[in-house]
Amino acid sequence: MDGYDHATYGDRFAAVYDDWYQGITDAPTCAALLAELADLEGHAGGGPVLELGVGTGRLALPLSAMGVQVVGVDASEAMLAELAAKDGGGAVEAVLGDMAAPPLGDRAFAVVFVAYNTLFNLVDPADQQRCIADAAARLLPGGSFVVEAFVPVPGRAQEAVAPRTITADRVVLSVSQTDPGRQEALGQYVDITEAGITLRPWHIRWSTPEQLDDMAAAAGLVLADRWADWERTPFGPDSPSHVSRYTAPPT
Ligand SMILES: C[S@@+](CC[C@H](N)C(=O)[O-])C[C@H]1O[C@@H](n2cnc3c(N)ncnc32)[C@H](O)[C@@H]1O
Repeated sequence: MDGYDHATYGDRFAAVYDDWYQGITDAPTCAALLAELADLEGHAGGGPVLELGVGTGRLALPLSAMGVQVVGVDASEAMLAELAAKDGGGAVEAVLGDMAAPPLGDRAFAVVFVAYNTLFNLVDPADQQRCIADAAARLLPGGSFVVEAFVPVPGRAQEAVAPRTITADRVVLSVSQTDPGRQEALGQYVDITEAGITLRPWHIRWSTPEQLDDMAAAAGLVLADRWADWERTPFGPDSPSHVSRYTAPPT
């Protein structure tokens, strides 16, 4: 999308993100699972944990509140400002940067995770591969790389316009184009009030679970668990989303 870079999504959605997405998945259950994975032998207290695309801290904050040391990388200063302003926000170490190449030197983590389709914000598959390779290289022995994403369903190219919000003072229209051949979708939420119009653009390139497995394998990781959600519901052919945990193979 012309004029769209790594920071655009976060910068344009920061003001509405919590309002629109706070309840999209079960954050306490996600935090509990990640805290359990982070509690590696010899790293009592759990962690450290790295969240890629931490946003406003929807997941990082409950995880940090459980006593886990959390670092969050995000490309958007506006998103990180929302995180810093929250109760407990100061306990999450926020790092401005690109999740395909996080500016974290040689720091290592018990868990690296990327939730809620955030990996798909990297619209070049080579960047998704770089991101996964960087995560793999940062894992402590016994550590986990965890991805949460939707499972793409085959379909035709589509264009859609639909209302998201209609009140007496505001209309939010969702305008989108989906291109299954390119595994891409892009769109805008067009937020209209009498004061004016705000555009909130988004652009994703999806990968299938099998493609993610291949990228993880290229980074030296193997699939350890695949669940349908953070509650560890078994993954099946009809699962709309997956939570996949990758580890280094035993030597
Ligand atoms: C859908 S939000 C998810 C936020 C949070 N993880 C959650 O689950 O609520 C995606 C986040 O990824 C960030 N992001 C997008 N592209 C990025 C990139 N290349 N590097 C780092 N962060 C990125 C956005 O700024 C935004 O905060």
